[in-house]
Amino acid sequence: MKILMVCLGNICRSPLAEGILQHKATLAKLNWCVDSAGTGNYHIGEAPHTLSQKVAALNGIDISKQKARQFVATDMLHFDKIYVMDSENYQNVKKISGSLFDASKTNLLLNEVTPNQNKSVPDPWYDTEKAYHEVFAMISNACDAIINKYAPQSI
Ligand code: 4NP
Repeated sequence: MKILMVCLGNICRSPLAEGILQHKATLAKLNWCVDSAGTGNYHIGEAPHTLSQKVAALNGIDISKQKARQFVATDMLHFDKIYVMDSENYQNVKKISGSLFDASKTNLLLNEVTPNQNKSVPDPWYDTEKAYHEVFAMISNACDAIINKYAPQSI
């Protein structure tokens, strides 16, 4: 499985999602490739937000080596599943992908927990550390659902 996590900046939410899912997949002995990207270009090349790094580290996950990149249309071909954090990300992924857009591969991450409700992982960019902990918990819960769905024998 190749899974791509997408948010706006690839600096707060999707780096956490990449780190959390890769961590859980490795623990479950699954040979999954997890990556992340942003629909915007504001932070290309930057490491994740300090608070995303801190909250991940408090949960035993090192995301400090990640570097932000922008989502490109060919990501639609290279990945089996593309999870976005909110509906704006979904529209931007659709726009960037153009004719390569594949709706069957693309979904809001929280739809793995609450199907068809299109709930968002809120953007913590202007918020405090508490919001990053809440985002971590939401993403972690969704990643458990993904592992359970695609590799039910592993947990
Ligand atoms: P993210 O958060 O999409 O979770 O990485 C954001 C990071 C940066 C900005 C917006 C959202 N920004 O406007 O620079």
